[in-house]
Amino acid sequence: MKQSNIFKVFTVITIVFISFLGCQNKQQKKQSVDSIAKNLYQEPHRSQLHFSPQANWMNDPNGMFYDKGKYHLFYQYYPDSTVWGPMHWGHAESKDLVHWKELPIALYPDSLGCIFSGSAVVDTYNTSKLGTAENPPIIAAFTHHDFVGEKAKTNDFQKQSIAYSLDGGYEWQKYSGNPVIPNKEKIKDFRDPKVVWHEASQKWILVLAAYDRVKFYASANLTDWEFLSDFGIEGDHRLWECPDLFQMKVADSNEYKWVLLVSIQKNAPNDGTATSYFVGEFDGIKFNSEVESQKWLDWGTDNYAFVTWNNVPKDDGRVLGIGWMSNWQYAQIVPTVNWRSTMTLPRELTLVKSASNYALHSTLVREFEQLRNTTTALGQMTITQEKLIEGSFTASQAEVDLSVDLQQTTASAFGIKLQNELGEKLVIKFDKKEGQMFVDRTNSRKDKFSDEFFKNVHAAPIDFNKEKMNMRLIIDAASIEIFINEGALSFTSIFFPSEKFSAISLFADSGVCNFSNLEVHHLNSIWEVQE
Ligand code: FRU
Repeated sequence: MKQSNIFKVFTVITIVFISFLGCQNKQQKKQSVDSIAKNLYQEPHRSQLHFSPQANWMNDPNGMFYDKGKYHLFYQYYPDSTVWGPMHWGHAESKDLVHWKELPIALYPDSLGCIFSGSAVVDTYNTSKLGTAENPPIIAAFTHHDFVGEKAKTNDFQKQSIAYSLDGGYEWQKYSGNPVIPNKEKIKDFRDPKVVWHEASQKWILVLAAYDRVKFYASANLTDWEFLSDFGIEGDHRLWECPDLFQMKVADSNEYKWVLLVSIQKNAPNDGTATSYFVGEFDGIKFNSEVESQKWLDWGTDNYAFVTWNNVPKDDGRVLGIGWMSNWQYAQIVPTVNWRSTMTLPRELTLVKSASNYALHSTLVREFEQLRNTTTALGQMTITQEKLIEGSFTASQAEVDLSVDLQQTTASAFGIKLQNELGEKLVIKFDKKEGQMFVDRTNSRKDKFSDEFFKNVHAAPIDFNKEKMNMRLIIDAASIEIFINEGALSFTSIFFPSEKFSAISLFADSGVCNFSNLEVHHLNSIWEVQE
């Protein structure tokens, strides 16, 4: 054999051998990632139904858009600790809004600062010219937060910038002309841009939070922005964050309205943070609210910075959103070990008009039902005092989707209790005299890690004049999401019992309560079916 042929054969053998090793290696790597993932998603208090990052700190959902069969979810992320720090955008995607795959970090801090909350849009017609007609870009709008400026008290340390992706949201380039909205007025709290397409004016609209109000801007190309107007409540100086603006159809009508979501950082109904909304008109310049006062999207303490997905296909037509399932009052000290914070379940919003008002209802997305495994149907139960729901939690399945109709009763109060053998409990109580639902997590854990978390029993107004009331509960390892009458009222609450709750019971005070159509669906974990 010639020397060059010997060399060729040797090269081929080496390549085959290296690729064999590579495959082995990949196989081993996959196995070890799988087993790490398995262990990670098994820690105490790890949500089995909700998205949480494998490790470290997460807060607000950011930049959500749908494209090519995938729902993208970005989020405020600090990869070096389980408490808040210089923010990045973490990234996850899902084909069904139920199973999530965590992806590499999308946006890193740079010379203009770290990356605070914001949004993303699919620029289908390449209005930004940052992509091409054949390959339109995804544009993310976010706040650059400059810690040096903050320390020096410059007051203009928050500015709006953009980044673009040409591969469907995986790799991102920061725009060279950043910031696209500088902070000329030097407003200390000037952040969280949300972008929406406004069909009538053929413009992109950006809404951002500026201390106690929101500001609207318009652009034809997502890079040059012109200020339009402010919207706020006279005399109310609470801090506003993470706004969202979208148009939606009023249920069972041909009427369309604009909804403005705003998260409030302090003094929300049950203390601390919550997402609120206004319903009205947006004419391309100004927002005009038509509800008599600001309303609450969720009455619990743990649904903050709720915002919606961009680019949900028209033939789907739903308004879909997600919130951060925590509260700044205690988010950084909750007793989880490898990671901190979880998202709420994705929700579908509907706008309902009654004689006097508009109301935003939120329910679970229908895709969630695929997690249902076995069902215990208990039909009707007449309760005096307290009764355990047999088989409500099983040793292997402590996550449930429970639905029950509560009928007019003689009991003055009635409700449902989750508890464990240590006597730790969470109580949901409907009190007719008070006209309220109370959620009491004050005894949900013996070792109290925060005063704020355990301080108060939380409440929400309930209309007891209805003959029948339906309640749906989604119970996960460390949270409950309560939906009354198909989401006319929703209430999200987190908890951290020392041991998982192992029993559910129904109770009635001073009288009888009829619980009918009681069904308990045991749920599969979202982490079991990961690719
Ligand atoms: C809301 C918020 C946003 C900000 C981000 C920082 O929770 O305070 O206003 O952009 O968190 O992580």
